[in-house]
Amino acid sequence: MSSGSPRVLPAASGIAEAAAVLRTGGLVAFPTETVYGLGANALDARAAARIFEAKARPSFDPLITHLADAADLPGLVGAVPPAVAALVDRFWPGPLTLIVDRPAAIPPIVTSGLPTMAVRVPDEPSARALIAAAGVPVAAPSANRFGQLSPTRAEHVVAGLGDAVEVVLDGGPTRCGIESTIVDARGERPVVLRLGALPVEALVEAVGPVDVRPGSSGQPVAPGTLAAHYAPRTPLRLGAAEPAPGDGGRRGFLAFRERPAGAWAAVEVLSPEGDLTAAAARLFDALHRLDAAGVTEIVVEPVPEVGVGRAINDRLRRAAATWH
Ligand code: TXA
Ligand code: MG
Repeated sequence: MSSGSPRVLPAASGIAEAAAVLRTGGLVAFPTETVYGLGANALDARAAARIFEAKARPSFDPLITHLADAADLPGLVGAVPPAVAALVDRFWPGPLTLIVDRPAAIPPIVTSGLPTMAVRVPDEPSARALIAAAGVPVAAPSANRFGQLSPTRAEHVVAGLGDAVEVVLDGGPTRCGIESTIVDARGERPVVLRLGALPVEALVEAVGPVDVRPGSSGQPVAPGTLAAHYAPRTPLRLGAAEPAPGDGGRRGFLAFRERPAGAWAAVEVLSPEGDLTAAAARLFDALHRLDAAGVTEIVVEPVPEVGVGRAINDRLRRAAATWH
């Protein structure tokens, strides 16, 4: 592929052009309320294959299919189990991905050969307008190269994927900033396969007890749950704000609410108010900035292990695991 830049269009006015690219088998990056997705026509195996190529994503890592409206689900997959339907009614559109049986219309490459399919309706008007205008379900993983930081701004997509993507819809920074929560609700008790923007507490309030198995290595696999993932290029470790003794290096610090004392070359504070939702929204952007700051190491402070804080800590642990 030639080197160059993708066409970056405003999300408000670029929908028709982007939808045409999807309909003809091309790739479009678009904002959702969680992170930017790299979309292709989910009914077209060749288009889906281009996603794996553009991301350098292993073929065993299945994609999430995105719909414009919850009412489109039965038309694609037929009857859904009552427990899945209850979650659809309660949380769609929103940052909840559900596991259903893969319908025949979806080619196996989309689900990496799994008999199941991950599906959600994003809570971002331009994303839903794009999918509706394309007139097809849209397979979309996060619009970053495999294993790297997730994109929460159009600039992150352009820097990470370049012209591997034809069109980038720019809708500004994403609201949640962290990926959707993935739940398999087909069995006795719902199982959380990936912690995400919808807090476990909200699920429990709606449907009662759930099992949380984000690190499960059993089938089906959710590779956003691979031990090493979501990583910056700069070595990253979890730690406290004390400068290491005798440390003369240029180090960066990712703080939850308070600026650390000491000689840090770069500091990012996620939320001075201590608001975990705000912290999640800034997480990947702050990591992208620290990664670009020319530091030799990024030290990150874990956040409180509650609500969306659990998903933030999950991403930080996986980012740190790359550097062990
Ligand atoms: O918020 C999100 O979910 C974003 C936006 C773009 O919607 N998408 C996203 O996609 O995070 P991706 O590919 O980065 O992560 C999708 C995760 C992967 O870990 C994948 O393994 C899992 O979903 N997944 C997909 N299909 C699955 C299935 N049938 N069973 C279990 N996990 C599945
Ligand atoms: Mg991803």
